[in-house]
Amino acid sequence: MRYKNKILVLLVLTAFVISGVAAVKAPQQKERNLKVLPKDISDEKLDSIMQTYNKALGVKCEFCHVKKKVYPGDMDYASDAEPKKEKAREMMRMTIDINQKYFPYQPGERPEYLNTITCKTCHRGETFPPED
Ligand code: HEC
Ligand code: HEC
Repeated sequence: MRYKNKILVLLVLTAFVISGVAAVKAPQQKERNLKVLPKDISDEKLDSIMQTYNKALGVKCEFCHVKKKVYPGDMDYASDAEPKKEKAREMMRMTIDINQKYFPYQPGERPEYLNTITCKTCHRGETFPPED
């Protein structure tokens, strides 16, 4: 093998090793697409909040979340393709706002987790809150 080729092979191998190490070291969890809830929320807390949305509106997760394009068996929870998700964000902001403005809470409490008023207070198991 000529000297130049050897260098090339070495460079290519080095690149493979570096990219391999980078792939292993990459964070296991990809960046979350959270605009209202705290970024450092635990999986458990996030899941329990989402469960309350299902109950409050009487829906399944698919009401606000779409399936993955490549693996339609899996949900793509980070995607904003379903407009109901953005509507839900507005509702979340409104709910946080009402709790903060009109009800007492401890200074250290996370406004996102206040639950004097919740989705269920208005929705009561329906997507459009019943009038009586
Ligand atoms: C009423 C609408 C609604 C329903 C129903 C709902 N979600 Fe969500 N979900 C949202 C919104 C809005 C966000 C983004 C919150 C934010 O921006 O802070 C979100 C975010 C998430 C995320 C974080 C995704 C990311 O960016 O990494 C997960 C995971 C998730 N939901 C799972 C679920 C599961 C599981 C269910 C069913 C048990 C569910 N959701 C039901 C509205 C909903
Ligand atoms: C103060 C009362 C109130 C609270 C609290 C509230 N909502 Fe709503 N929500 C409504 C009303 C009223 C509508 C119907 C709005 C309309 O007619 O367009 C609605 C509509 C929605 C819709 C659209 C439904 C559809 O089929 O288009 C979503 C999604 C939603 N709310 C999610 C939530 C979530 C999630 C929460 C809690 C974070 C929440 N809401 C809290 C009153 C409320």
